[in-house]
Amino acid sequence: MSDEDFLLLDPGPVPVSDAALESMAEPMISHRSAEFEAVYERAQDGLEYVFTTSTLDGETTGSGTALLLDGTATMAMEAAVANLVGSGGNVVALVNGTYGRRFARVAERHASVTRVEVEWGESIPVADVEAAVTDATDVVTMVHSETSTGLLNPVSEVGAVAREHDAAFVVDGVTSVGGDAFEIDEWHVDVALTDASKSLAAPPGVSALFVTDRAVERFDGERAPFYEDLDRHLRTAERHQTPFTSAVPLFRSLAVAVEAVADEGMPERIRRHRTYASAFREAFEAMGLDLFADPDGPTRYSNTVTAVSLPEAVSGDDAADFFDGVAARNVSVAGGQAHLDGRIFRVSNMGDLDGDDVRRGVETVGAALTDAGIDADVEAALVAAEERLD
Ligand SMILES: Cc1ncc(COP(=O)(O)O)c(C=O)c1O
Repeated sequence: MSDEDFLLLDPGPVPVSDAALESMAEPMISHRSAEFEAVYERAQDGLEYVFTTSTLDGETTGSGTALLLDGTATMAMEAAVANLVGSGGNVVALVNGTYGRRFARVAERHASVTRVEVEWGESIPVADVEAAVTDATDVVTMVHSETSTGLLNPVSEVGAVAREHDAAFVVDGVTSVGGDAFEIDEWHVDVALTDASKSLAAPPGVSALFVTDRAVERFDGERAPFYEDLDRHLRTAERHQTPFTSAVPLFRSLAVAVEAVADEGMPERIRRHRTYASAFREAFEAMGLDLFADPDGPTRYSNTVTAVSLPEAVSGDDAADFFDGVAARNVSVAGGQAHLDGRIFRVSNMGDLDGDDVRRGVETVGAALTDAGIDADVEAALVAAEERLD
């Protein structure tokens, strides 16, 4: 086992700063106290900054309210859909990976769902969305950065289609918000959601929604799940609380993390994430590997998650040799999900990593592949990474 520090490169949870970790050890307080309300407000202000200033030029976009939820992003996905469809309705769900499929499954519990579906890792043609969305569509759901495949889906183009038919547009920005551009107004997003444990670099367990004023008018709190009644969440958020008991330590840690994001500034943070993602992509290609997906049309590679095909000799059951080699170097990368298990590996550059973490990730993957008998050009990979990181 390596004696270097543990490096977590999974696409969530991601490494958390000492300050954010330490904040969780502070003495417990009531979730109805003024002290807690101050924590909620700090986290909410930071989240509103992130949701509305995720542009390269620092321009703000979108007006609405950030809500903190006592649950991970799947809860936020369900809250968004269930409050918008009430006791039924029509949802068009875009599916090209695990999380797009999850959105469709969540929506199926509450509404009638039409899927616009392609193979995981393929790009969804906007023409297919145009054909599926009609004036009878209440909600369109999509995932921006599809964590399972490393694709950045075309939110702007799909948002234009949703708006043309006056459908509410709900976007999962779990692995993009806080790390990449996200333009609420320009992309016609009505509800956006993210998780604490991804690009915001806070611990897992809580998530956030950004609800625009346009979305709020459409909420049907009475028919939404009791715990996720967003009308009620909005009312209690006015006094900086959640309707039920809040996860006090997690909210404290999130407040610290989003303040650090605001200190860095979103334009700089977006540029850093884009640089590191391209360093990973170019390094792995120079190593002789193939990126898993090949985006088409307005779809792009994710700037936060990179998915790479495993060479034949370390795929399927043999993939364990590669992942063991990575773990032996005290680094963690993720495998593929569902049928992509044993076919790909995924690395994240979300949060507060630095260039040395990217270099170590590249070197570790190269060394683990070499140990597993793959002819990986680690030198060329490091040169390619350096060209980006310089
Ligand atoms: C894009 C995306 N959406 C939703 C989720 C759901 O998060 P959770 O399973 O933590 O609820 C994840 C988790 O990785 C994700 O990457």
